Amino acid sequence: MDDSHISADLDRVLFTAEELDARLAEIAAEIDAEYRDKDVLLVGVLTGAVMVMADLSRALTTHCSMDWMAISSYGSGTQSSGVVRILKDLNTDISGRHVLVVEDIIDTGLTLSYLVSNLKSREPASLEIMTMFRKPEAAENAVDVKWVGFDIPNEFVVGYGLDYGGRYRNLRCLGSLAPHVYS
Ligand code: IMP
Repeated sequence: MDDSHISADLDRVLFTAEELDARLAEIAAEIDAEYRDKDVLLVGVLTGAVMVMADLSRALTTHCSMDWMAISSYGSGTQSSGVVRILKDLNTDISGRHVLVVEDIIDTGLTLSYLVSNLKSREPASLEIMTMFRKPEAAENAVDVKWVGFDIPNEFVVGYGLDYGGRYRNLRCLGSLAPHVYS
């Protein structure tokens, strides 16, 4: 789906599919360099990270494995609460592995803080984080994110895996939702 198919639902396009692709290629080159002699395990957080995981993993030139977690953050509408429950755990034992968490977006960083402390307790050889988007509030949080696709304004965005009410994940670009959609 392109923005032209849902133009009435969007305020504006923040990044086109081409811009997202180009930035991912830059990050993939850095990740390639970092893990050249290591077997990295990419851990995606369902469901938002499916697009970035698919595109990032295919942009890599080094071997990688993939696994997924599903977590639910208790919150309503457009707010996250930081209270997190694991709905689907990893299939992989990450002890001694080089783990790279692949995230769609960090807003408050509360979900990620929980995830990082949970994964660290499993004693991976290393644990790094890549996120495609990051909002300003996340900068106030202590979680160390090694790769950030784009820092974005504090707006509710959809597309490239991100949803509102289950919709818009299949939008190729990243757009900000028009207020009439959620008010
Ligand atoms: P955090 O715990 O506040 O960092 O929230 C992270 C999660 O909230 C993300 O993984 C998304 O699922 C969701 N989220 C945060 N901001 C947005 C947004 O602008 N659009 C869609 N989902 C969002």
